[in-house]
Amino acid sequence: MSAVRKIPVSLLRPGMVLYRPVYGPDGQLWLNSGVELKSKYINSLWRAGISFVFISDPFLADVVVRDLVSEETRRHAVKAVKETLQSAKLLKRNSLLLDKRFSSIVEKLVREVLASKDVMINLADIRDVDDYTFFHSVNVCVLSLLNATDLDLSQARMEELGAGALLHDLGKIWISEVTLKKKGSLTPEEYHEVKKHPAFGFEILNSQAKFSPNSAKVVMQHHERCDGSGYPHNLEKDDIHSYARLVMIVDVYDALTSERPYRLGMKPHQAIKIITDCTESYDHSLLTSFLKHIAPYPIGTPLRLSNGYLGIVIENRKGMPLRPVIRIFKNGDGFFYQEPFDLDLLDKSNLQIVDALSDAESEQELPVMTKHKGSD
Ligand SMILES: [Fe+2]
Repeated sequence: MSAVRKIPVSLLRPGMVLYRPVYGPDGQLWLNSGVELKSKYINSLWRAGISFVFISDPFLADVVVRDLVSEETRRHAVKAVKETLQSAKLLKRNSLLLDKRFSSIVEKLVREVLASKDVMINLADIRDVDDYTFFHSVNVCVLSLLNATDLDLSQARMEELGAGALLHDLGKIWISEVTLKKKGSLTPEEYHEVKKHPAFGFEILNSQAKFSPNSAKVVMQHHERCDGSGYPHNLEKDDIHSYARLVMIVDVYDALTSERPYRLGMKPHQAIKIITDCTESYDHSLLTSFLKHIAPYPIGTPLRLSNGYLGIVIENRKGMPLRPVIRIFKNGDGFFYQEPFDLDLLDKSNLQIVDALSDAESEQELPVMTKHKGSD
């Protein structure tokens, strides 16, 4: 797919063109991709409580972003997690929860991730806020598998990891939704309740013949921390299964960058900073390899450089997170280039990234051009 800009609904203008379709809460199509926005559409998006949409930018039309797995596979995986979690709630003792469809979606995710292991994570968030747990589960699975590509695991081991990551939060179906969606901090009683979800999920999944004990460890241990500060058992690094050590990093990263009904998601570079500020919590070598796969400034991110240039990231390369290729639109004096040009930071060691522009700053400094280029 080509590069897109993720724009808050509050900053949409008529004439912008939707890149991704917008779906309603039950998955019904509201606005299709390619639709040119009109004021009435923007008002309905606003009324429906949608925070962001994905907009095509004619100046980025040639920029390609690859996702790790196809959108179709991602949607199937979300559906599989949703169905599994819903049926787990009705489960009778010793009855079968995981069917063939579940294992085949895990197998497909592993295959697709292995085929694109050199891709940096570049895509902006595509989840629907209401289905947070399901989208989060799939994201954690895909990112964990990507991180595991550096470990040379067999297909069977990758599938064990994938299955555990996909169902790591299964136990949350027994935690009150009011608590899970609560704004602000939890009371000690509520936190005590939330902390039970690893054991709840483990209890169900450990009795499933098709779920390996290694996958079940991911469910039980994904909130443990290497310095012993996690839950439920305050385990230390050597006592935590390596799959769980890997999933915990991804789980935190995805949670921080996710948009929730009560807060906006952090930008990737902000989430990375929070995680690397408490390195003792995580397995150092797994964290280092994770950071090689994650673009702190994904394609489409508006940036300011140390010489005042303003531009948008158009390419990231694995292992070089702070040296992306940037399409420059404006210089430090506020002059807009008629013909934007591409600057490879790898060739410009004297230039640094100063910061990523906020959404409001970006709309002010680098507005998305509408269909009539330059007309605003
Ligand atoms: Fe969890």
